[in-house]
Amino acid sequence: MSEIIGVVGAGTMGNGIAQVAARAGHEVVLRDVKDEFLERGMSAIDRSLQRDVDKERLKEEEKRAVVGRIRTTTELSDLARAAFVIEAITESLEAKREVFRALDEACGPEAILASNTSSISITKLGAATRRPDKVIGMHFMNPVPVMKLVEVIRGIATSDETWARTRELTGRMGKTALECNDSPGFVSNRVLMPMINEAVFALYEGVATRESIDGIMRLGMNHPMGPLTLADFIGLDVCLAILNVLHTELGDPKYRPCPLLKKYVDAGWLGRKSGRGFYEY
Ligand code: 3HC
Repeated sequence: MSEIIGVVGAGTMGNGIAQVAARAGHEVVLRDVKDEFLERGMSAIDRSLQRDVDKERLKEEEKRAVVGRIRTTTELSDLARAAFVIEAITESLEAKREVFRALDEACGPEAILASNTSSISITKLGAATRRPDKVIGMHFMNPVPVMKLVEVIRGIATSDETWARTRELTGRMGKTALECNDSPGFVSNRVLMPMINEAVFALYEGVATRESIDGIMRLGMNHPMGPLTLADFIGLDVCLAILNVLHTELGDPKYRPCPLLKKYVDAGWLGRKSGRGFYEY
């Protein structure tokens, strides 16, 4: 069954989600506030699909068909016919609340409104709408086309039917949905971020070099990337923001962000995207 999928936000996560939805055969409406953001998102999709064309896993005409199923727009009202809308804008509660309020107005009554948030409460986003039973978290992992998981988060009011429809959509996108309840950092970031933070503390305290810390976790634990490399990949500002959510919301000092992480963010050393983080790019 192919449905219209709306995606709000054409950044790294949003364009990845649009790509996998279109590749699964869905019509996709990708919305962002500026044409230049949409153009950037579409060229990222083109580059990502081209990898598969180059590896002869996708035919050139299939790539064109996938791209052809994605329509871009700056108007939220163009999402009116979507069965599912997945929001992937910046991690700000206020901005997301505003989008959820507007989507609630713009979309049909049966539409499910999902958020790709990494740490904002789904219950709070549901409360911004008149359909909290149809609001759910779909937390995709970066890079979206590669990673198999979608962490599906149920807010306090999310219905069983919404969870079932979300799990089904996730499966059609070739991913596995694993369910968790709404709680700060959900499961993924509650477990991942303290590990990254501890690696930063190890660097800060001079326990080992960045290469040693990363190598120990890569070779010793079979992690594809060491924790400092992974932090650079995720963005140090994003890591700090998630740790702050864990620290504030759970109130446990064990989540205290390492001062070195704060200092790097203050310096604008945000990882890969800024050209410098724990490593230079
Ligand atoms: N689009 C499409 N395909 C991509 C891609 C992209 N952006 N990036 C990598 N790939 C594909 C490559 O084509 C390659 O495919 P193949 O093996 O089938 O030929 C495969 O992924 C491996 O890529 P590379 O050989 O270039 O590089 P690596 O082997 O180093 O893998 C990686 C790259 C997949 C990113 C791997 O290092 C990895 O899994 N790292 C950990 C990623 C991770 O933990 N992500 C979760 C972050 S946390 C998160 O997102 C949640 C948030 O809330 C913080």
